[in-house]
Amino acid sequence: KEIHEQPKAIRDTMTGRVSLNEKINLGDFKLTSEELENMDRIYIVACGTAYNAGLMGKVAIEDLARIPVEVAIASEFRYRDPLITDRTLIIVVSQSGETADTLAVLRDGKKQGARVLAITNVVGSSVSREAHDVIYTLAGPEIAVASTKAYVTQLAAFYILGLYFASLKETMTNEEIETIKAELLQIPNKIDKALKMKDSLQKFASTHYNHKDMYFLGRGLDYAVAMEGSLKLKEISYIHCDAYAGGELKHGPIALIEKNTAVITLLTQESLKDKMISNVREVSTRGGNIFAVVNEGDTTTKEVVDDLVYIPKTIDILTPLISVVPLQLISYYVAKQKGCDVDKPRNLAKSVTVE
Ligand code: AGP
Repeated sequence: KEIHEQPKAIRDTMTGRVSLNEKINLGDFKLTSEELENMDRIYIVACGTAYNAGLMGKVAIEDLARIPVEVAIASEFRYRDPLITDRTLIIVVSQSGETADTLAVLRDGKKQGARVLAITNVVGSSVSREAHDVIYTLAGPEIAVASTKAYVTQLAAFYILGLYFASLKETMTNEEIETIKAELLQIPNKIDKALKMKDSLQKFASTHYNHKDMYFLGRGLDYAVAMEGSLKLKEISYIHCDAYAGGELKHGPIALIEKNTAVITLLTQESLKDKMISNVREVSTRGGNIFAVVNEGDTTTKEVVDDLVYIPKTIDILTPLISVVPLQLISYYVAKQKGCDVDKPRNLAKSVTVE
């Protein structure tokens, strides 16, 4: 149900903030160009899926606004001695707004003088009350332990923030910003389409559901999505899985590939596709069974993989909003095949309010 609510969740998150021929509107979160220029660094800090969204957030802000960003896991960051001053912006991301480690980072950051911006889904949550500024994701209540619609709205929030910073820093022309906004506004319809492409995903699940291990491979943004796909699958199907950057394969993980090892690959980033195809060949030479997520119109990948799903095409930087959908569905179908409770997986709580 929540996977299918994603088009609406993204639409709601963009409403009032992204409109063609109007400036990005983030409500009360307003910065001047001077304030942005004066910032010494930006950290994005979160846990689990929200951290995975942060990986994408870094790319959105760096690519669109050319501002360096560091992404950190909250439970690591809080015990480090990070470089925080009164010119630092800490962006905490939390669906629930109650995650203990994320909240600790927010509180410590404030004590050290940082400005804290929260991206959260829950109005009135601790994070929303204590941060200096808030961007709400409007995913609606997310009940299932495995985060899906919150994740895509966190991505949407980061794209919007990236565009906001880009216009303040004038790193993009108005035309370029309008092009990305127009594409963003199309995303809900494209996710609707992606949600209908289920056949090969169901087939993959019914063939591979009893595997002990699975691997995800991608490069660039596809790697960040692979991390989220891997987290989803392990969380609800209890299959051990890992995500690797394609280029890292040769540095160790390839030793794990044997006949019938299931490998889910993403090849949505045009500039990295040839490199990924080489990685796919390395896996198939060793007998691995490869499932691929590719863009509509891709004619080459099907020659080198065992099966694949086509997703509606958008510009490369926005593709994660769509490419994560088949991965969520694979996790769902695999978990169903195994008879697992997809909403309440064992050992996990929706909101981790203790260390
Ligand atoms: C996501 O599927 C997980 N259940 C988990 O990783 C979650 O994203 C993490 O605990 C962070 O939660 P938050 O967004 O509420 O802070």
